[in-house]
Amino acid sequence: MNIILLGPPGAGKGTQATLLVESRGMVQLSTGDMLRAAVKAGTPIGLKAKAVMEAGELVSDEIVSGIIGEALDALPLETGVIFDGYPRTEAQAHSLDIILSERDRTLDHVIELEVDEDALVERITGRFTCATCGAGYHDKFKQPKVEGECDKCHGHDFKRRPDDNEATVRTRMAEYRAKTAPILPIYEARGIVSRVDGMSEMNEVTVAIAAILDGGSA
Ligand code: AP5
Repeated sequence: MNIILLGPPGAGKGTQATLLVESRGMVQLSTGDMLRAAVKAGTPIGLKAKAVMEAGELVSDEIVSGIIGEALDALPLETGVIFDGYPRTEAQAHSLDIILSERDRTLDHVIELEVDEDALVERITGRFTCATCGAGYHDKFKQPKVEGECDKCHGHDFKRRPDDNEATVRTRMAEYRAKTAPILPIYEARGIVSRVDGMSEMNEVTVAIAAILDGGSA
């Protein structure tokens, strides 16, 4: 099964993708994570992407579709994939169709996380991750069980993303409205879009997504 999680910044795509990886053995392909890894490693793609990401704008379609194709090539066909943060433009949606069909994969579900944009700024500016294992936390919504210590690896170093400030978040939301939301009709025409209330509690969102994947209603 191959699915897209769609929603504006902070909607909970990464949070829910991580849970699906744990519960279903699917693989999460997050273009944001892959680009951040490229920036950290100082690769040619990372050097091109760094300033664009820090401004909250979109990296070129060619670059992101290229890294998605390469990532899929490294996966066995039977491994289900969660596309997190991709596609984000009409051009990327068309590229994904080609990328999938060239690899004999289908797209089974597009799940849109519906959220109230005003609440997203609080979600994003409060977000932080473990610098060692990448586990995600939030100042208010998901604190570590022991203050200052990662629940998963017990590390004590945490980091925040450079693009998680209010001004950049507003630009990222505008980019989502202008370029990403318009791709939904492509998938609606195929009858594969489901919507989930992304403002519910995290575990309720997880249950709603599971119902869709298991063939029930959200
Ligand atoms: P990317 O990394 O994809 O960022 P994004 O889309 O802005 O999404 P986020 O990671 O910010 O949010 P999320 O929905 O995953 O939320 P999360 O689960 O963390 O992209 C970054 C940049 O890379 C882009 O701006 C662009 O420059 C570039 N890029 C990436 N892909 C690209 C592409 N395809 N094309 C071009 N450029 C690309 O949740 C947020 C917080 O809320 C967390 O702290 C979480 O704990 C909390 N939370 C989650 N769910 C809930 C809930 N139900 N209730 C309360 N709190 C919750």
